[in-house]
Amino acid sequence: MPTPSSQAFCASSIIGTGSYMPEKVLTNDDLSKIVDTSDEWITTRTGIRERRIAAEDQATSDMAAEAARRALADAGISAEEVNLIVVATVTPDMFFPSTACFVQKKIGATNAVCFDISAACSGFLYALQVARHFINTGNRSTALVIGAEKLSSLINWQDRNTCVLFGDGAGAVVIRRAEEETDAPGRVLSTVMGSDGNLADLLKVPGGGSACPITAENALSRPNTIHMEGRETFKHAVTRMCQASEQALEMAGLKKEDITLIIPHQANLRIIQAIADRLGLPHDKAFINLDKYGNTSAATIPVALDEANRAGRLKRGDILLLVAFGGGFTWASSVVRW
Ligand code: ACO
Repeated sequence: MPTPSSQAFCASSIIGTGSYMPEKVLTNDDLSKIVDTSDEWITTRTGIRERRIAAEDQATSDMAAEAARRALADAGISAEEVNLIVVATVTPDMFFPSTACFVQKKIGATNAVCFDISAACSGFLYALQVARHFINTGNRSTALVIGAEKLSSLINWQDRNTCVLFGDGAGAVVIRRAEEETDAPGRVLSTVMGSDGNLADLLKVPGGGSACPITAENALSRPNTIHMEGRETFKHAVTRMCQASEQALEMAGLKKEDITLIIPHQANLRIIQAIADRLGLPHDKAFINLDKYGNTSAATIPVALDEANRAGRLKRGDILLLVAFGGGFTWASSVVRW
């Protein structure tokens, strides 16, 4: 069981949310013209109806920067007040500099320390926890935590097993130290994280890194695209997300019945419904937008949080359960009191 030690200075609060989704819409019918699939198959198996695809000249940092600007506007603070930027992404603009450094430049956050985190679909919650530690220990006061992905750059458009699942987009939150105030709105009450590298092969982009650089010889087999064992991933996702949810609730001193809204990683509607069932909660307690965007990896939770916020679905005092699972395998869950 997780220890409550990380709770000692627990006083980070989400004070603003923002998101950016690219304009281009790719529907299931569009995909059925590219690979042997159908709207019926994709909708029934995943719940996804369409996804957004970034423009060719749009990098992950462009989407991240726009989401960040919107989060700063929502928080009512300037970019200069930010002293930490953490970007969760598996589709960085390039290996280095970090995408966070590009975001810094684009938004003018001249006082920030910037770096990226790689934890696939769990990346945003990992980044939230890292930023929270910086804030809770007094090292930094104001952070932009961003999940941003251009997954279309990692997709093999001939592989129907994967190309129907993913999309592009970015979401961001501003978190700030809430001093001694214990009931500050948007307070992150708990976070648990886990990883199992023994299962790394089930979901990966095998090529393009140091283990398998892209060469003229291997390029045609597309090793720099997403490879996934869907069924196995599904099973682990449900198990780990349920466990993480229960642990995060326990760490926050709360019960399942206290949850107002689940904001889950948006990979598959059936996964989300299975989690709600195991937690004994009605399906409508889960916020869903994967029908519009598909799986945008690290971006799904901050985008969903922003949409729920702007739609007026979040009320002061609501208990939000954020939960994610992704390549690694990695998983994480946070409880937030809005
Ligand atoms: N259109 C039509 N048929 C398809 C398609 C498609 N797009 N994709 C696969 N099929 C076929 C398969 O070839 C297979 O055919 P066969 O029985 O003749 O061999 C059949 O459909 C069933 O395939 P399964 O893989 O068993 O289908 P399943 O019901 O498991 O659904 C899915 C597949 C949607 C991928 C599901 O397993 C899933 O969502 N897995 C989890 C994904 C996930 O959560 N990822 C998490 C994080 S992602 C990240 O970290 C980047």
